[in-house]
Amino acid sequence: MEKSAKPKKIGILTAGGDCPGLNAAIRGVGKTAIVEYGMEVIGFNAGYLGLINNDYFELKESQLSGILTLGGTILGTSREKPFKLVKNGEKDQHKPEKIIQNYKDLGLDCVVCIGGNGTMKTANMLAKEGLNIIGIPKTIDNDVWGTDVTFGFDSAVQIATDAIDRLHTTANSHQRVMIIEIMGHHAGWLALYSGLAGGGDIILLPELKYNIRSVCKKIESRYEDNKPYSIVVVAEGINHPKGKTAAAHIGSAIHTYTGIETRETILGYIQRGGSPTPMDRILATQYGAYATKSIADGNFGTMVAIKNNNLTTVPLEDVGGKLRLVDADFPLIDNARKMGVSFGDEFL
Ligand code: F6P
Repeated sequence: MEKSAKPKKIGILTAGGDCPGLNAAIRGVGKTAIVEYGMEVIGFNAGYLGLINNDYFELKESQLSGILTLGGTILGTSREKPFKLVKNGEKDQHKPEKIIQNYKDLGLDCVVCIGGNGTMKTANMLAKEGLNIIGIPKTIDNDVWGTDVTFGFDSAVQIATDAIDRLHTTANSHQRVMIIEIMGHHAGWLALYSGLAGGGDIILLPELKYNIRSVCKKIESRYEDNKPYSIVVVAEGINHPKGKTAAAHIGSAIHTYTGIETRETILGYIQRGGSPTPMDRILATQYGAYATKSIADGNFGTMVAIKNNNLTTVPLEDVGGKLRLVDADFPLIDNARKMGVSFGDEFL
């Protein structure tokens, strides 16, 4: 799509799972666009579905006031993937064609796509179709490739840490092993950070292969050291049998091998709800403002990112389809091991 000399009309959408800070990012994009650059802003409803169905509304500056602290997204979201392969293995060109037509008919100069890995993959495909696209990374999982941090993560760490803190007292009273399951199918960032912040004794991540005997040995040695309770933090994506939750699997295995009483807590969607932390409000605001600056600069086909504490952009082409996972030699893991935290992978 041709670049207009001065972008005048932009669209914003939020796609994928929601997280705290989405409204702060919408506000950051929209207010900067209206106040600083005099652009017209529209919001698409329910992620890429809104772009396919031409379902949008105008976002006036007044509508962007009072949403900074609000959880969820005023635009709604969905997991719609317009380029998804259909059954016979062929792409359904119908949806991308509709998107391109709507983009042209609305006279858009850019669409800002706020989302996680899946959203960035689609954003890149739309950029390849010739649309002017800018991505903003969000997710509580913190696993978007190309940036050091996504907004939503800090809020989720706070919620999960608070939950782990509360488990300590009840675990101690009953002398139990408490297993808490934290979100993260592929990436264990949230389990790692909340586990360490909450003083977890054992932290199991999808990236590290655990051994249940190693987990039990750690618990038994704590009992021998007069520490009559343990907190086990497990990411939902650790290896476990289908039909059982990760927490239930680990809890019953610990009980079977040690005979110690166990209880499980699955934190679930609480981790994605509610008001963003101040850090997430600032990060989302910065990302939003920088995305709009990137539009004004004509820096399309990119995702805004933080690298070494600096705001920057990375090509969407490099981001799509990749995940940023926890490395086994990530320094925090080494620090934790040296303090006696177990990752269930210790040599027996
Ligand atoms: O947003 C990421 C995430 O929270 C994952 O950690 C989780 O497994 C997934 O979303 C579940 O979301 P949904 O049920 O909305 O698909």
